[in-house]
Amino acid sequence: MKRRKFLKSLLALLGSTTLVSFAYPLVRFIAPPSKKAEVKRLSLSKGDIPAGEAREVVFNNTPAIVINRPGKGYIALSKVCTHLGCLVEFNKEKARLICPCHAGEFSLDGKVLSGPPPKPLTEFPLRVEGESIIIG
Ligand code: FES
Repeated sequence: MKRRKFLKSLLALLGSTTLVSFAYPLVRFIAPPSKKAEVKRLSLSKGDIPAGEAREVVFNNTPAIVINRPGKGYIALSKVCTHLGCLVEFNKEKARLICPCHAGEFSLDGKVLSGPPPKPLTEFPLRVEGESIIIG
């Protein structure tokens, strides 16, 4: 009798542990995040990015690149490729952003030029105030 009670308790414990291990991820997936990610601003000096050059930054935990396009001005783009998430690299000679994983190529505006990426790179809001470039 004592042994049977012990086994019942053990099974109940295992059952409840299993239930919690499945229910917790489900609840975390369904429940909205407790607070939104904080939108931060990032400020750079215009002198840090001469015409035709780029500078890598991290904006809101996303690897990004700020490019000074000759004749077109500054742009801030996510470096995360829209195909499978590799980080694109700035190629000054070709004036393109090239993904090393599957050779996807983007224009300096973030538009897809070739390869498998299904959509353009994400562009972040950017404005120039005096000698500062403000992202966000
Ligand atoms: S991850 Fe960039 S082209 Fe595939």
